[in-house]
Amino acid sequence: MNLSHRPRRLRRDGIRGLVSETDVNASDLIAPVFVDATADERIPIESMPGHERVPVDDAVARVEEVLDTGVEAVMLFGIPESKNARGTRAWAEDGVVQEATRRVAAETDAYVLTDVCLCEYTDHGHCGVLEEGAGPSEDADARLTVRNDETLDLLGKIATSHAAAGADMVAPSSMTDGMVGAVRESLDAAGFSDVPVMSYAAKYESAFYGPFRDAADGAPAFGDRRHYQMDPANAREAVREVRRDVEQGADVLMVKPALPYLDIVREIREEFDHPVAAYNVSGEYAMLHAASEKGWLDLEEVALESLLSIKRAGADLILTYFAEDVAESL
Ligand code: PBG
Repeated sequence: MNLSHRPRRLRRDGIRGLVSETDVNASDLIAPVFVDATADERIPIESMPGHERVPVDDAVARVEEVLDTGVEAVMLFGIPESKNARGTRAWAEDGVVQEATRRVAAETDAYVLTDVCLCEYTDHGHCGVLEEGAGPSEDADARLTVRNDETLDLLGKIATSHAAAGADMVAPSSMTDGMVGAVRESLDAAGFSDVPVMSYAAKYESAFYGPFRDAADGAPAFGDRRHYQMDPANAREAVREVRRDVEQGADVLMVKPALPYLDIVREIREEFDHPVAAYNVSGEYAMLHAASEKGWLDLEEVALESLLSIKRAGADLILTYFAEDVAESL
């Protein structure tokens, strides 16, 4: 029996902290915030306990609550007052995210990121302009697909309108081919060459987005997003997909969701030297809450362990609905 190696020696209190390889800090976290132009009071989001849609007038107060916990960055999502086929409220100067960004940028010290997408703004709930595609289906709706190149122009307009309102960073999330380049070009042309782009670079077609779609009212009215978001079966494709975004000028590379895709987080970490972000999505949050409500898991502990695992896999920053709770418990 050779017991010269006793790893337990370094697991005692007093030494654990000195040898720990990973930690989670409030400064690694971004808190998603939902601003709702149709609300005149805060509306709790049932499937995401502790989160609310807040009216535009409450956006500053909501962000101040985040800052009070030690978290320094927020990602703003908007629910517009009206929707239409092209999602035109997504780039309106007086749109919900533009208005909230303007106020939060002027009145708080938060670092403001914005989600650049169309699904919350289109009446069909898809992430771009639709066209009827070819296909075997008898059902015309089932043959509809997102018109890629026309959507690029709209994403550029949205990103520029967010930057004009004062966004510190924009995050295109529509999985349109060429989205990072289109957003970069529009920003540069409008004089926002200093505004970085965080690409939702490897975004999977995931059932873990369910609660978010309630929160942001962005569920597709028909069909799904498998024509543009990535197939959960594919890992090599993620490297290819992310490389395109790097070539187009992405500053930060995001993998989404986080926990079921930690292999992808690791892979992107090893393959590229850009900062890597992971989005610990709504379903990852909801399931831990549901289990803890039943008394089956300790919420504070599993939340921290989740974020630690995401950091350990290689993420530098994490978007998470646990941001405030975890920052407060640190
Ligand atoms: C918009 C967008 C979505 C999420 C973030 N941005 C929804 C989707 O792609 O269906 C999901 C975030 C979450 O589940 O927490 N495209």
